[in-house]
Amino acid sequence: MSESGLLESGLPGPAAPADREPPRLSFLGTGYLGTTYAACYAELGHQVIGLDVDPVKVAALAAGQLPFHEPGLAELVRRGLDSGRLRFTTDPAVAAAGADVHFLCVGTPQRPDGGADLGQVAAAVQAIAPHLHGRTLLVGKSTVPVGTAEWIERLLRKHVPDDADAEVAWCPEFLQEGHAVDDVLRPDRIVVGARGEWARRTLDRVHRGVHELAAREGREIPVLETDFATAELVKTAANAFLATKISFINAMAELCEAAGADVARLAEALGHDERIGPHFLRAGVGFGGGCLPKDIRALQSRAEQLGAGAAVRFLHEVDLINQRRRERVLQLAGELLDCVAGPAGPELTGTRIAVLGATFKPDSDDVRDAPALAVARLLHGAGAQVRVYDPLGGANARRSHPELGYAERLEQACAGADLVCVLTEWQEFREADPAALARLVNGRIVIDGRNCLDRGAWGAAGWTYRGLGWKEVA
Ligand code: UGA
Repeated sequence: MSESGLLESGLPGPAAPADREPPRLSFLGTGYLGTTYAACYAELGHQVIGLDVDPVKVAALAAGQLPFHEPGLAELVRRGLDSGRLRFTTDPAVAAAGADVHFLCVGTPQRPDGGADLGQVAAAVQAIAPHLHGRTLLVGKSTVPVGTAEWIERLLRKHVPDDADAEVAWCPEFLQEGHAVDDVLRPDRIVVGARGEWARRTLDRVHRGVHELAAREGREIPVLETDFATAELVKTAANAFLATKISFINAMAELCEAAGADVARLAEALGHDERIGPHFLRAGVGFGGGCLPKDIRALQSRAEQLGAGAAVRFLHEVDLINQRRRERVLQLAGELLDCVAGPAGPELTGTRIAVLGATFKPDSDDVRDAPALAVARLLHGAGAQVRVYDPLGGANARRSHPELGYAERLEQACAGADLVCVLTEWQEFREADPAALARLVNGRIVIDGRNCLDRGAWGAAGWTYRGLGWKEVA
């Protein structure tokens, strides 16, 4: 189809470069977000450039090597590179010349005061802006405090050359690690925060591939057009809601422990109510990762700045409930190992504990703010000799917490242990044979921090089983 055929009548002059079909795309920041989008959109037929300031990362990606684990992504990166549709660069001039629509995918880490650090956003905008010419679109994807898009507009105006007509739009992402490829190719909704018709139409063309895929699969993707502020808030609100749901069930877990009820059955019963739904009601050691914890803190910080702090003060409680679950494992370990508590809490000196899991969730190698590692550190801090095993996250965990002991295999972690703590629900742990492990350990005591094991099977193999949110000891 000709370029002009896609344009609505009334647009001035011939097709601008940004009206090329399909639009050429750049992704600023080739972390987990930018790389996944870049590879998926190359797969959908776009010419794509990933831009990053880190030459080592760019060289690795250009050679088809992923610096993190994401199922299915390495294959897409390789296919994109082989097809010539996917390139990586450290040069913003190359990204500006090779793309019509630029997606901002850099990180927004937590500042010490809880707010979001926008340093990488500012740096990315200032790096690309001087190289932009003609009509271009800069689309925000990073998770940011509400108000960022307007600030980027001002930044852009200051840094683009006179012949550039650069617009901003906001299109939040909702990727879940371990599921990210599917989340990009098959999004459950698309949110477009834009000021003008041209920006909206350009994003329609960007999203044509995912709509076509959906149509082939008999689905339809809802598109919600909003203002900037709503688009920015959708993302943090979604994560805050998910975090709240998890902390809600974990608060119920505390109550269940006190009352002798069973939180897993409670969650199952709640989930049958369609208004509540069964998802994100798995009680355990709580949420971690690079998103939920930092996003609820950034939302509180931004709400305070806006004078609406009271509205989201409950998120502080959500955070506290989440932190308490980690401490609960330490407390349980002390009880189950029959240790005499010291004045500063459980004293575990002389005990050996196998910690199964280091990543914040299974099918990922991400250990950022991982509850499993936080618990391992608490146990270590209380004097226990800790040995951590994780199927994929061992290397990252070792790098971030070299003070802990590590094992290369599940059996090695468990050998001689007085207590086994399952803290990430990897399939390898769920399917482990409790009878075989029983022969390796010193004490048959297991804390199931994710309520993911078959209680009956572990009990039958002679284990004292303890889940979170369930009082009975088998
Ligand atoms: C989260 C959101 O789910 C995504 O929609 C969002 O796009 C992403 O953050 C982001 O901001 O980029 P992710 O961090 O990959 O995705 O992880 P989740 O699957 O949401 O899990 C977060 C944590 O909650 C994990 O530690 C997980 O174990 C825990 N969790 C999850 C529970 O403890 N219970 C549950 O029922 C569900």
